[in-house]
Amino acid sequence: MGNRAGREKFSTGLAAFFATLGSALGLGNIWKFPYLVGENGGGAFLFIYLLCVIFVGIPVMICEFYIGRKTRKNAVGAFQKIGTNPAWKIIGYLGVLSAYLIMFFYSCVAGWVYSYVFKALKGDFNAISAHSVEAELTKAVVGPISPLFWQLVVLIVVSVVLICGVKRGIERVTKTLLPVLFILIIICAIRAMTLPGAFQGLYFLFHIDFSQLTPNIILMALGLAFFKLSLGMGTLITYGSYFTENNNMITTAIKVALSDTVVSLLAGIAIFPTVFSFSMETGAGPGLLFLTIPLVFSQIPFGNILLAAFFFLTSIAATTAMISIVEVLVAYLSEEKGMSRTKAVIFNATLIMFIGMLATLSADRASILGDVHIFGRTFFQLFDFTSSNVILPIGGLLIVIFVGWVGAKEEFRYELSNQGMLKTDWLISIFYFFIKYVAPVLLAVVFLNSIGLFRI
Ligand code: PHE
Repeated sequence: MGNRAGREKFSTGLAAFFATLGSALGLGNIWKFPYLVGENGGGAFLFIYLLCVIFVGIPVMICEFYIGRKTRKNAVGAFQKIGTNPAWKIIGYLGVLSAYLIMFFYSCVAGWVYSYVFKALKGDFNAISAHSVEAELTKAVVGPISPLFWQLVVLIVVSVVLICGVKRGIERVTKTLLPVLFILIIICAIRAMTLPGAFQGLYFLFHIDFSQLTPNIILMALGLAFFKLSLGMGTLITYGSYFTENNNMITTAIKVALSDTVVSLLAGIAIFPTVFSFSMETGAGPGLLFLTIPLVFSQIPFGNILLAAFFFLTSIAATTAMISIVEVLVAYLSEEKGMSRTKAVIFNATLIMFIGMLATLSADRASILGDVHIFGRTFFQLFDFTSSNVILPIGGLLIVIFVGWVGAKEEFRYELSNQGMLKTDWLISIFYFFIKYVAPVLLAVVFLNSIGLFRI
Protein backbone atom coordinates (compact mmCIF):
# COMPACT_ATOMS: atom_id res chain seq x y z
CA MET A 1 0.00 0.00 0.00
CA GLY A 2 2.99 2.25 0.36
CA ASN A 3 3.48 5.01 2.81
CA ARG A 4 0.24 6.87 3.21
CA ALA A 5 1.28 8.87 6.22
CA GLY A 6 2.90 12.28 6.31
CA ARG A 7 1.32 13.71 3.19
CA GLU A 8 -1.18 16.54 3.26
CA LYS A 9 -4.78 15.74 2.40
CA PHE A 10 -7.90 17.69 1.63
CA SER A 11 -9.87 17.83 4.84
CA THR A 12 -13.20 16.64 3.44
CA GLY A 13 -14.81 15.33 0.32
CA LEU A 14 -16.30 18.76 -0.27
CA ALA A 15 -12.85 20.38 -0.12
CA ALA A 16 -11.59 17.85 -2.66
CA PHE A 17 -14.56 18.59 -4.90
CA PHE A 18 -13.99 22.34 -4.80
CA ALA A 19 -10.26 22.01 -5.35
CA THR A 20 -10.81 19.83 -8.40
CA LEU A 21 -13.48 22.19 -9.64
CA GLY A 22 -11.01 25.05 -9.14
CA SER A 23 -8.70 23.31 -11.60
CA ALA A 24 -11.45 22.37 -14.05
CA LEU A 25 -13.26 25.69 -14.21
CA GLY A 26 -11.41 28.33 -16.11
CA LEU A 27 -10.92 29.76 -19.55
CA GLY A 28 -11.89 26.38 -20.96
CA ASN A 29 -15.47 26.97 -19.87
CA ILE A 30 -15.90 30.66 -20.36
CA TRP A 31 -13.61 31.42 -23.27
CA LYS A 32 -12.84 28.24 -25.22
CA PHE A 33 -16.08 26.29 -25.03
CA PRO A 34 -18.26 29.09 -26.48
CA TYR A 35 -15.91 29.95 -29.29
CA LEU A 36 -15.42 26.33 -30.33
CA VAL A 37 -19.18 25.74 -30.27
CA GLY A 38 -19.51 28.87 -32.40
CA GLU A 39 -16.84 27.83 -34.89
CA ASN A 40 -17.98 24.24 -35.17
CA GLY A 41 -21.66 24.52 -35.87
CA GLY A 42 -23.45 24.79 -32.52
CA GLY A 43 -25.70 22.01 -31.20
CA ALA A 44 -24.10 19.09 -33.03
CA PHE A 45 -20.70 19.99 -31.59
CA LEU A 46 -22.26 20.38 -28.15
CA PHE A 47 -23.86 16.94 -28.45
CA ILE A 48 -20.57 15.26 -29.39
CA TYR A 49 -18.82 17.17 -26.64
CA LEU A 50 -21.28 15.80 -24.07
CA LEU A 51 -20.75 12.25 -25.33
CA CYS A 52 -16.99 12.76 -24.98
CA VAL A 53 -17.44 13.90 -21.39
CA ILE A 54 -19.58 10.90 -20.44
CA PHE A 55 -17.75 8.13 -22.27
CA VAL A 56 -14.18 9.38 -22.10
CA GLY A 57 -13.87 12.36 -19.75
CA ILE A 58 -15.43 10.94 -16.59
CA PRO A 59 -13.71 7.53 -16.99
CA VAL A 60 -10.29 9.19 -17.45
CA MET A 61 -10.96 11.43 -14.45
CA ILE A 62 -11.77 8.39 -12.31
CA CYS A 63 -8.54 6.72 -13.46
CA GLU A 64 -6.49 9.76 -12.53
CA PHE A 65 -8.05 10.00 -9.07
CA TYR A 66 -7.48 6.29 -8.61
CA ILE A 67 -3.80 6.39 -9.58
CA GLY A 68 -3.22 9.49 -7.45
CA ARG A 69 -4.88 8.23 -4.29
CA LYS A 70 -3.38 4.78 -4.57
CA THR A 71 0.20 6.02 -4.97
CA ARG A 72 0.00 9.36 -3.16
CA LYS A 73 2.50 10.76 -5.66
CA ASN A 74 2.80 13.35 -8.43
CA ALA A 75 2.23 12.16 -11.99
CA VAL A 76 5.80 11.10 -12.79
CA GLY A 77 6.42 9.57 -9.36
CA ALA A 78 3.08 7.76 -9.43
CA PHE A 79 3.95 5.73 -12.49
CA GLN A 80 7.40 5.06 -11.16
CA LYS A 81 5.80 3.64 -8.06
CA ILE A 82 3.19 1.37 -9.60
CA GLY A 83 4.41 1.00 -13.14
CA THR A 84 5.44 -2.53 -13.86
CA ASN A 85 7.45 -1.07 -16.68
CA PRO A 86 9.29 2.27 -16.34
CA ALA A 87 8.05 3.25 -19.79
CA TRP A 88 4.73 4.30 -18.19
CA LYS A 89 6.54 7.30 -16.83
CA ILE A 90 6.08 8.69 -20.32
CA ILE A 91 2.57 9.71 -19.21
CA GLY A 92 4.14 11.97 -16.61
CA TYR A 93 6.59 13.45 -19.12
CA LEU A 94 3.86 14.08 -21.66
CA GLY A 95 1.95 15.83 -18.86
CA VAL A 96 4.92 18.09 -18.20
CA LEU A 97 5.15 18.91 -21.90
CA SER A 98 1.46 19.74 -22.20
CA ALA A 99 1.57 21.84 -19.04
CA TYR A 100 4.14 24.05 -20.76
CA LEU A 101 2.28 24.19 -24.06
CA ILE A 102 -1.00 25.10 -22.35
CA MET A 103 0.60 27.77 -20.21
CA PHE A 104 2.17 29.47 -23.25
CA PHE A 105 -1.21 30.50 -24.60
CA TYR A 106 -3.31 30.31 -21.42
CA SER A 107 -1.26 33.04 -19.74
CA CYS A 108 -1.83 35.20 -22.81
CA VAL A 109 -5.62 34.81 -22.77
CA ALA A 110 -5.70 35.23 -18.99
CA GLY A 111 -3.87 38.52 -19.60
CA TRP A 112 -6.70 39.71 -21.84
CA VAL A 113 -9.16 38.82 -19.08
CA TYR A 114 -7.15 40.73 -16.45
CA SER A 115 -6.95 43.74 -18.75
CA TYR A 116 -10.73 43.69 -19.26
CA VAL A 117 -11.29 44.11 -15.52
CA PHE A 118 -9.45 47.40 -15.69
CA LYS A 119 -11.00 48.47 -18.94
CA ALA A 120 -14.46 47.87 -17.50
CA LEU A 121 -13.67 49.84 -14.36
CA LYS A 122 -12.28 52.70 -16.44
CA GLY A 123 -15.59 52.81 -18.28
CA ASP A 124 -14.20 51.81 -21.67
CA PHE A 125 -17.34 49.80 -22.34
CA ASN A 126 -19.98 52.31 -21.24
CA ALA A 127 -22.93 52.13 -23.64
CA ILE A 128 -20.62 50.62 -26.21
CA SER A 129 -21.69 49.60 -29.71
CA ALA A 130 -20.90 46.28 -31.41
CA HIS A 131 -18.45 48.10 -33.64
CA SER A 132 -16.41 49.79 -30.91
CA VAL A 133 -16.29 46.64 -28.85
CA GLU A 134 -14.27 45.15 -31.68
CA ALA A 135 -11.85 48.07 -31.68
CA GLU A 136 -11.35 47.62 -27.92
CA LEU A 137 -10.58 43.94 -28.41
CA THR A 138 -8.03 44.67 -31.11
CA LYS A 139 -6.30 47.15 -28.80
CA ALA A 140 -6.13 44.58 -26.02
CA VAL A 141 -5.04 41.66 -28.20
CA VAL A 142 -2.78 43.12 -30.87
CA GLY A 143 -0.87 45.49 -28.61
CA PRO A 144 1.93 44.51 -28.47
CA ILE A 145 2.80 46.27 -25.21
CA SER A 146 -0.53 45.83 -23.44
CA PRO A 147 -1.00 42.05 -23.96
CA LEU A 148 2.65 41.35 -23.09
CA PHE A 149 2.37 43.50 -19.98
CA TRP A 150 -0.76 41.66 -18.82
CA GLN A 151 0.74 38.28 -19.57
CA LEU A 152 3.63 39.22 -17.30
CA VAL A 153 1.21 40.35 -14.57
CA VAL A 154 -0.61 37.00 -14.82
CA LEU A 155 2.62 35.04 -14.46
CA ILE A 156 3.72 37.15 -11.51
CA VAL A 157 0.39 36.57 -9.75
CA VAL A 158 0.55 32.81 -10.34
CA SER A 159 4.19 32.70 -9.16
CA VAL A 160 3.50 34.69 -6.01
CA VAL A 161 0.63 32.40 -5.08
CA LEU A 162 2.76 29.31 -5.67
CA ILE A 163 5.82 30.66 -3.85
CA CYS A 164 3.93 31.96 -0.84
CA GLY A 165 2.31 28.57 -0.56
CA VAL A 166 -1.04 30.22 -0.02
CA LYS A 167 -2.71 27.53 -2.05
CA ARG A 168 -4.94 26.65 0.85
CA GLY A 169 -5.92 30.29 1.19
CA ILE A 170 -6.67 30.41 -2.49
CA GLU A 171 -8.81 27.34 -2.19
CA ARG A 172 -10.86 29.06 0.47
CA VAL A 173 -11.22 32.09 -1.78
CA THR A 174 -12.27 29.87 -4.69
CA LYS A 175 -14.90 28.22 -2.56
CA THR A 176 -16.56 31.53 -1.88
CA LEU A 177 -15.96 33.14 -5.24
CA LEU A 178 -16.94 30.28 -7.53
CA PRO A 179 -20.58 30.48 -6.41
CA VAL A 180 -20.51 34.24 -7.05
CA LEU A 181 -19.16 33.67 -10.55
CA PHE A 182 -21.91 31.13 -11.05
CA ILE A 183 -24.57 33.67 -10.04
CA LEU A 184 -23.08 36.37 -12.29
CA ILE A 185 -23.09 34.03 -15.27
CA ILE A 186 -26.73 33.25 -14.53
CA ILE A 187 -27.54 36.98 -14.48
CA CYS A 188 -25.65 37.36 -17.71
CA ALA A 189 -27.50 34.44 -19.28
CA ILE A 190 -30.90 35.77 -18.19
CA ARG A 191 -30.09 39.21 -19.53
CA ALA A 192 -28.91 37.75 -22.83
CA MET A 193 -32.11 35.76 -23.19
CA THR A 194 -34.15 38.95 -23.01
CA LEU A 195 -32.29 40.52 -25.94
CA PRO A 196 -34.23 40.80 -29.20
CA GLY A 197 -33.54 37.77 -31.36
CA ALA A 198 -32.25 35.75 -28.43
CA PHE A 199 -34.13 32.66 -29.54
CA GLN A 200 -31.96 32.25 -32.61
CA GLY A 201 -28.93 32.02 -30.34
CA LEU A 202 -30.52 29.31 -28.23
CA TYR A 203 -31.53 27.48 -31.37
CA PHE A 204 -27.95 27.60 -32.60
CA LEU A 205 -26.65 26.26 -29.30
CA PHE A 206 -29.14 23.45 -28.83
CA HIS A 207 -30.32 22.44 -32.28
CA ILE A 208 -28.50 19.31 -33.37
CA ASP A 209 -27.80 19.30 -37.07
CA PHE A 210 -25.76 16.20 -37.79
CA SER A 211 -24.92 17.33 -41.28
CA GLN A 212 -22.52 19.75 -39.59
CA LEU A 213 -20.40 16.95 -38.19
CA THR A 214 -16.96 16.17 -39.58
CA PRO A 215 -14.22 13.97 -38.12
CA ASN A 216 -12.25 17.09 -37.35
CA ILE A 217 -15.12 18.43 -35.25
CA ILE A 218 -15.16 15.21 -33.25
CA LEU A 219 -11.45 15.61 -32.54
CA MET A 220 -12.00 19.21 -31.44
CA ALA A 221 -14.83 18.16 -29.09
CA LEU A 222 -12.68 15.42 -27.59
CA GLY A 223 -9.74 17.79 -27.10
CA LEU A 224 -12.03 20.32 -25.48
CA ALA A 225 -13.31 17.73 -23.01
CA PHE A 226 -9.74 16.94 -21.94
CA PHE A 227 -8.77 20.58 -21.69
CA LYS A 228 -11.87 21.66 -19.78
CA LEU A 229 -11.80 18.83 -17.28
CA SER A 230 -8.00 19.17 -16.77
CA LEU A 231 -7.44 15.60 -17.96
CA GLY A 232 -4.63 13.64 -19.56
CA MET A 233 -1.67 15.45 -18.02
CA GLY A 234 -1.59 14.26 -14.46
CA THR A 235 -3.11 17.28 -12.76
CA LEU A 236 -5.85 15.16 -11.32
CA ILE A 237 -3.41 12.42 -10.36
CA THR A 238 -1.79 14.99 -8.10
CA TYR A 239 -5.20 16.09 -6.77
CA GLY A 240 -6.26 12.50 -6.23
CA SER A 241 -3.11 11.99 -4.21
CA TYR A 242 -4.51 14.45 -1.66
CA PHE A 243 -7.95 12.80 -1.40
CA THR A 244 -9.01 11.19 1.87
CA GLU A 245 -9.59 7.45 2.16
CA ASN A 246 -13.33 7.89 2.36
CA ASN A 247 -13.79 10.10 -0.69
CA ASN A 248 -16.20 8.55 -3.15
CA MET A 249 -14.09 9.18 -6.25
CA ILE A 250 -16.75 8.16 -8.75
CA THR A 251 -19.32 10.60 -7.45
CA THR A 252 -16.67 13.32 -7.11
CA ALA A 253 -15.80 12.85 -10.78
CA ILE A 254 -19.44 12.93 -11.85
CA LYS A 255 -20.16 16.04 -9.79
CA VAL A 256 -17.12 17.88 -11.13
CA ALA A 257 -17.99 17.02 -14.74
CA LEU A 258 -21.60 18.04 -14.22
CA SER A 259 -20.79 21.39 -12.59
CA ASP A 260 -18.19 22.11 -15.24
CA THR A 261 -20.72 21.41 -17.98
CA VAL A 262 -23.41 23.57 -16.37
CA VAL A 263 -21.04 26.54 -16.18
CA SER A 264 -20.12 26.13 -19.85
CA LEU A 265 -23.73 25.86 -20.91
CA LEU A 266 -24.58 29.02 -19.00
CA ALA A 267 -21.69 30.81 -20.70
CA GLY A 268 -23.09 29.61 -24.03
CA ILE A 269 -26.57 30.82 -23.11
CA ALA A 270 -25.09 34.22 -22.28
CA ILE A 271 -23.05 34.46 -25.45
CA PHE A 272 -25.04 33.07 -28.39
CA PRO A 273 -28.23 35.12 -27.97
CA THR A 274 -25.95 38.17 -27.88
CA VAL A 275 -24.16 37.07 -31.03
CA PHE A 276 -27.44 36.83 -32.92
CA SER A 277 -29.02 39.87 -31.35
CA PHE A 278 -26.12 42.07 -32.48
CA SER A 279 -25.73 40.27 -35.83
CA MET A 280 -22.22 39.11 -35.05
CA GLU A 281 -20.40 36.07 -36.40
CA THR A 282 -20.78 32.80 -34.49
CA GLY A 283 -17.36 31.85 -35.83
CA ALA A 284 -15.62 34.95 -34.45
CA GLY A 285 -12.96 32.71 -32.88
CA PRO A 286 -10.96 33.35 -29.72
CA GLY A 287 -12.28 36.91 -29.42
CA LEU A 288 -15.90 35.79 -29.03
CA LEU A 289 -16.13 36.15 -25.23
CA PHE A 290 -14.57 39.59 -25.32
CA LEU A 291 -16.86 40.80 -28.07
CA THR A 292 -20.12 39.67 -26.54
CA ILE A 293 -20.05 40.01 -22.75
CA PRO A 294 -19.40 43.79 -22.76
CA LEU A 295 -22.51 44.13 -24.93
CA VAL A 296 -24.64 42.05 -22.57
CA PHE A 297 -23.80 44.35 -19.70
CA SER A 298 -23.62 47.61 -21.60
CA GLN A 299 -27.32 48.33 -21.40
CA ILE A 300 -28.17 47.50 -17.83
CA PRO A 301 -27.89 49.56 -14.66
CA PHE A 302 -24.48 49.20 -12.98
CA GLY A 303 -23.39 47.37 -16.12
CA ASN A 304 -19.83 48.60 -15.63
CA ILE A 305 -19.50 47.17 -12.20
CA LEU A 306 -21.13 43.90 -13.19
CA LEU A 307 -18.85 43.65 -16.20
CA ALA A 308 -15.75 44.30 -14.11
CA ALA A 309 -17.00 41.73 -11.57
CA PHE A 310 -17.60 39.20 -14.33
CA PHE A 311 -14.06 39.52 -15.69
CA PHE A 312 -12.59 39.66 -12.20
CA LEU A 313 -14.23 36.38 -11.25
CA THR A 314 -13.25 34.86 -14.58
CA SER A 315 -9.68 35.90 -13.89
CA ILE A 316 -9.85 34.16 -10.50
CA ALA A 317 -11.14 31.00 -12.17
CA ALA A 318 -8.39 31.23 -14.79
CA THR A 319 -5.77 31.80 -12.10
CA THR A 320 -6.77 28.78 -10.01
CA ALA A 321 -6.71 26.67 -13.18
CA MET A 322 -3.21 27.96 -14.00
CA ILE A 323 -2.03 27.23 -10.49
CA SER A 324 -3.00 23.60 -11.03
CA ILE A 325 -1.14 23.53 -14.35
CA VAL A 326 2.07 25.12 -13.09
CA GLU A 327 1.91 22.91 -9.99
CA VAL A 328 2.50 19.93 -12.31
CA LEU A 329 5.77 21.55 -13.40
CA VAL A 330 6.80 22.66 -9.95
CA ALA A 331 6.01 19.31 -8.34
CA TYR A 332 8.01 17.55 -11.04
CA LEU A 333 11.08 19.80 -10.80
CA SER A 334 11.09 19.90 -7.02
CA GLU A 335 10.14 16.30 -6.21
CA GLU A 336 11.97 14.53 -9.02
CA LYS A 337 14.82 16.89 -9.86
CA GLY A 338 15.55 18.27 -6.43
CA MET A 339 15.10 21.94 -7.32
CA SER A 340 13.75 24.17 -4.55
CA ARG A 341 10.10 25.17 -4.99
CA THR A 342 10.90 28.85 -5.28
CA LYS A 343 13.54 28.23 -7.91
CA ALA A 344 11.22 25.91 -9.80
CA VAL A 345 8.46 28.53 -9.84
CA ILE A 346 10.74 31.33 -11.04
CA PHE A 347 12.37 29.12 -13.65
CA ASN A 348 9.00 28.01 -15.03
CA ALA A 349 7.45 31.46 -15.02
CA THR A 350 10.43 32.90 -16.90
CA LEU A 351 10.41 30.16 -19.47
CA ILE A 352 6.65 30.47 -19.94
CA MET A 353 6.92 34.24 -20.37
CA PHE A 354 9.61 33.94 -23.04
CA ILE A 355 8.01 31.27 -25.13
CA GLY A 356 4.51 32.46 -24.27
CA MET A 357 5.37 35.75 -25.96
CA LEU A 358 5.21 33.89 -29.24
CA ALA A 359 1.57 33.03 -28.53
CA THR A 360 0.74 36.58 -27.51
CA LEU A 361 2.41 38.06 -30.58
CA SER A 362 0.55 35.70 -32.91
CA ALA A 363 -2.92 35.74 -31.34
CA ASP A 364 -4.57 37.84 -34.02
CA ARG A 365 -4.14 38.20 -37.74
CA ALA A 366 -2.97 41.77 -37.17
CA SER A 367 -0.42 40.76 -34.51
CA ILE A 368 3.30 41.09 -35.23
CA LEU A 369 3.71 37.34 -35.76
CA GLY A 370 0.11 36.89 -36.90
CA ASP A 371 1.04 35.57 -40.30
CA VAL A 372 3.88 33.30 -39.33
CA HIS A 373 2.69 29.73 -39.82
CA ILE A 374 4.23 26.46 -38.71
CA PHE A 375 2.52 23.35 -40.05
CA GLY A 376 -0.23 25.68 -41.18
CA ARG A 377 -0.82 27.12 -37.70
CA THR A 378 0.24 30.24 -35.86
CA PHE A 379 2.26 29.78 -32.67
CA PHE A 380 -0.88 30.45 -30.64
CA GLN A 381 -2.85 27.81 -32.54
CA LEU A 382 0.03 25.36 -32.53
CA PHE A 383 0.43 25.42 -28.74
CA ASP A 384 -3.31 25.04 -28.31
CA PHE A 385 -3.79 22.30 -30.91
CA THR A 386 -0.84 20.11 -29.93
CA SER A 387 -1.72 20.20 -26.26
CA SER A 388 -5.52 19.81 -26.30
CA ASN A 389 -5.99 17.74 -29.41
CA VAL A 390 -2.88 15.60 -29.46
CA ILE A 391 -0.98 15.23 -26.21
CA LEU A 392 -3.82 15.30 -23.67
CA PRO A 393 -5.86 12.64 -25.50
CA ILE A 394 -2.71 10.50 -25.93
CA GLY A 395 -2.12 10.87 -22.19
CA GLY A 396 -5.75 9.90 -21.60
CA LEU A 397 -5.45 6.86 -23.84
CA LEU A 398 -2.35 5.65 -22.01
CA ILE A 399 -4.02 6.23 -18.65
CA VAL A 400 -7.10 4.15 -19.48
CA ILE A 401 -4.97 1.41 -21.01
CA PHE A 402 -2.81 1.40 -17.92
CA VAL A 403 -5.76 1.10 -15.55
CA GLY A 404 -7.92 -1.16 -17.71
CA TRP A 405 -5.33 -3.52 -19.15
CA VAL A 406 -2.19 -3.40 -17.01
CA GLY A 407 -3.60 -3.00 -13.52
CA ALA A 408 -5.74 -5.61 -11.81
CA LYS A 409 -9.51 -5.16 -11.77
CA GLU A 410 -9.66 -6.28 -8.15
CA GLU A 411 -7.33 -3.50 -7.04
CA PHE A 412 -9.41 -0.97 -8.92
CA ARG A 413 -12.58 -2.25 -7.29
CA TYR A 414 -10.94 -2.28 -3.86
CA GLU A 415 -9.67 1.31 -4.13
CA LEU A 416 -12.82 2.77 -5.66
CA SER A 417 -15.07 1.13 -3.12
CA ASN A 418 -12.85 2.62 -0.40
CA GLN A 419 -11.60 -0.79 0.68
CA GLY A 420 -15.07 -2.25 0.44
CA MET A 421 -16.75 0.46 2.51
CA LEU A 422 -18.91 1.72 -0.36
CA LYS A 423 -21.54 -0.56 -1.77
CA THR A 424 -21.32 0.75 -5.30
CA ASP A 425 -20.16 -2.34 -7.13
CA TRP A 426 -22.54 -1.82 -10.04
CA LEU A 427 -21.30 1.74 -10.61
CA ILE A 428 -17.70 0.62 -10.43
CA SER A 429 -18.44 -2.14 -12.94
CA ILE A 430 -20.04 0.30 -15.38
CA PHE A 431 -17.10 2.65 -15.26
CA TYR A 432 -14.60 -0.16 -15.43
CA PHE A 433 -16.25 -1.26 -18.65
CA PHE A 434 -16.00 2.30 -20.01
CA ILE A 435 -12.35 2.48 -18.97
CA LYS A 436 -11.36 -0.88 -20.39
CA TYR A 437 -13.29 -0.88 -23.65
CA VAL A 438 -15.27 2.22 -24.54
CA ALA A 439 -12.80 5.02 -23.85
CA PRO A 440 -9.75 3.36 -25.47
CA VAL A 441 -11.68 2.42 -28.59
CA LEU A 442 -13.17 5.89 -28.98
CA LEU A 443 -9.82 7.56 -28.38
CA ALA A 444 -8.03 5.28 -30.79
CA VAL A 445 -10.63 5.74 -33.53
CA VAL A 446 -10.62 9.52 -33.25
CA PHE A 447 -6.84 9.54 -33.35
CA LEU A 448 -6.26 7.18 -36.18
CA ASN A 449 -8.78 9.18 -38.06
CA SER A 450 -7.09 12.47 -37.35
CA ILE A 451 -3.75 11.23 -38.60
CA GLY A 452 -5.46 9.84 -41.66
CA LEU A 453 -4.94 6.14 -41.01
CA PHE A 454 -8.59 5.37 -40.70
CA ARG A 455 -11.66 7.16 -41.99
CA ILE A 456 -14.85 7.45 -39.96
N1 PHE B 1 -9.46 22.99 -17.11
C1 PHE B 1 -8.84 24.27 -17.19
C2 PHE B 1 -9.82 25.24 -17.87
O1 PHE B 1 -10.85 24.85 -18.31
C3 PHE B 1 -7.52 24.25 -17.91
C4 PHE B 1 -6.60 23.14 -17.48
C5 PHE B 1 -6.17 22.21 -18.40
C6 PHE B 1 -6.20 23.04 -16.15
C7 PHE B 1 -5.34 21.17 -18.02
C8 PHE B 1 -5.36 21.99 -15.75
C9 PHE B 1 -4.94 21.07 -16.69
O2 PHE B 1 -9.55 26.39 -18.00
